[in-house]
Amino acid sequence: GLLLSKLFLVLCGLELQVGVCCPVDCVCYPAPMTVSCQAHNFAAIPEGIPEDSERIFLQNNQISFLLPGHFSPSMVTLWIYSNNITFIDPDTFKGFVHLEELDLGDNRHLRTLAPETFQGLARLHALYLYKCGLSSLPAGIFGGLHNLQYLYLQDNHIEFLQDDIFVDLVNLSHLFLHGNKLWKLTQNTFRGLVNLDRLLLHENHLQLVQPRAFHDLQRLTTLFLFNNSLSEVQGDCLTYLGALEFLRLNGNPWDCGCRARSLWEWLRRFRGSSSSVLCASPEWMQGRDLKLLQAQDFRNCTGAESLPGSGPRGWGAETRAPPFGITQPMTFLKPGGEERGAKGGTTGYTKKGKGGPCPHGASVRMGGHSRGGGGRWEEQPPSGPCRREPRKRDFHSRTARFTS
Ligand SMILES: *[C@@H]1O[C@H](CO)[C@@H](O)[C@H](O)[C@H]1NC(C)=O
Ligand SMILES: *[C@@H]1O[C@H](CO)[C@@H](O)[C@H](O)[C@H]1NC(C)=O
Ligand SMILES: *[C@@H]1O[C@H](CO)[C@@H](O)[C@H](O)[C@H]1NC(C)=O
Ligand SMILES: *[C@@H]1O[C@H](CO)[C@@H](O)[C@H](O)[C@H]1NC(C)=O
Repeated sequence: GLLLSKLFLVLCGLELQVGVCCPVDCVCYPAPMTVSCQAHNFAAIPEGIPEDSERIFLQNNQISFLLPGHFSPSMVTLWIYSNNITFIDPDTFKGFVHLEELDLGDNRHLRTLAPETFQGLARLHALYLYKCGLSSLPAGIFGGLHNLQYLYLQDNHIEFLQDDIFVDLVNLSHLFLHGNKLWKLTQNTFRGLVNLDRLLLHENHLQLVQPRAFHDLQRLTTLFLFNNSLSEVQGDCLTYLGALEFLRLNGNPWDCGCRARSLWEWLRRFRGSSSSVLCASPEWMQGRDLKLLQAQDFRNCTGAESLPGSGPRGWGAETRAPPFGITQPMTFLKPGGEERGAKGGTTGYTKKGKGGPCPHGASVRMGGHSRGGGGRWEEQPPSGPCRREPRKRDFHSRTARFTS
C-alpha cells in the first residue's frame, strides 16, 4: 500500500509537469491549483481532486450530494452550479476559512439548507443560491459572513424572510431577491445592510412594505420593485434612501388616491431616475402616472390618509375607506400597458437578454470552457453592474498562461 502510494506520488509528480495529475476527465492547472471538471455527466464528486486545489469547477454535471471530505479546506473557489444537488451536509464546508466564492446556483431540487451550512466562512465574498427551489431560509444561515459582498437568491420560491436574516452582512453590496414569492418587507428584514448598493425585489408578490423597511440602506443606489402587487408605499419609507439613483416601481397596481400623496411628494423631490408609476385606482386616475399628478389632484385630501403602518394588510378600517364614500374595486393594469410605459420612459435602462454578462462579469474562459451569466440579471442601470470582480480578472490572466 505504502509502496503503491509512493509510486502514485512519483507518477503524479512527474505528470504534474505536463498537467495531468488530475481526476479522470478533468483538466488541472498548477499555481493556484485548479481542477476543471465541468460538463462531464459526473454523478458524484470525482475521485482524486488534489488536496491543495484552490479552484474547483464542477458545473454542468449531475452531482446530487455534497458531503464532508468531498473538498479540502484549501479551497478558495467552488463552482458547482447547474447540477442536481439535493442535499448538502451541514459540515461540508466546515473549517473552510479560505473559501471566497461558492456557486451552488441552478440546483433546482436543493429546496432546503441547514442553518449551519455556511457557518465559519469568514472570507466568503460571493454566494450563489439562485434557482435552487428554496422556499425558505433558516434563521442564522448567513450568520458571521462579514465579508460577503454578493448574495444571489433570485428565482427561488421564498415567501418570507425572517427578521434579521441579513444582519451580519455588513459588507454586502448586491442582494438579488427577484423572482421569488415575497409578499411583505418588515422593518427588520434588511436590518444591518449598511453597505448595500443594489437591492432587486422585482417579480415578487409584494403587497406590504413597512415604513421603516429600508431604514439601514443609506448607501443603496438601485432599488427594483417592479412587477409586484404594491398599491401603496409610504414616501417616508423611501426617505431613508439618501443615495438612491435608480428606482423602478412600474408593474404594480398603484392606488393614487389620497394615500399616495406622500409617495407623490417624495417622487417630486427625487433626483435620480425612476420608472413610471401608473395608477390602477381610483377609477378616475387609472392609467395616469403618479409622477405627473399635480397638487390639485390631491386637493380634497385631508392629510389623515397617509398615516404610517399602512399597506393592504395593515390598514385599519377607518383609513381603508375609499375617499368620498365610493367603493372602488381594485383594478389591475394590463401588463402590456405598463411595460410600454416603462420602456418608453427616460430611465436609460438597458435590457439584457439571455446569456448577458452579468452578474459574473465577462465569462471566464479556461481551456475552451466558458461561463455566461445565463440571464440572471434582467434589467440594469447603465453604469456599474457589469463591473468585473477583480479577483476573476486576475484568475483569467493567470490561467491564460497555462492555456495559451
Ligand atoms: C434530480 O434529482 C431529483 C430528486 O432526486 C430527481 O427526481 C430527478 O430525476 C433528478 N434529475 C436528473 C436530471 O437526474
Ligand atoms: C468588511 O467590513 C469590515 C468592517 O466594516 C471592513 O473592515 C472590511 O474591510 C470589509 N471587507 C471588505 C472585503 O470590504
Ligand atoms: C412584468 O410582468 C408582466 C406580466 O406578468 C410580464 O409580461 C413582463 O414581462 C414583466 N416585466 C418584466 C420586466 O419582467
Ligand atoms: C374634489 O371635490 C370636489 C367637490 O366635491 C369635486 O368636484 C372634485 O372632483 C374633487 N376632486 C378630486 C381630484 O377628486
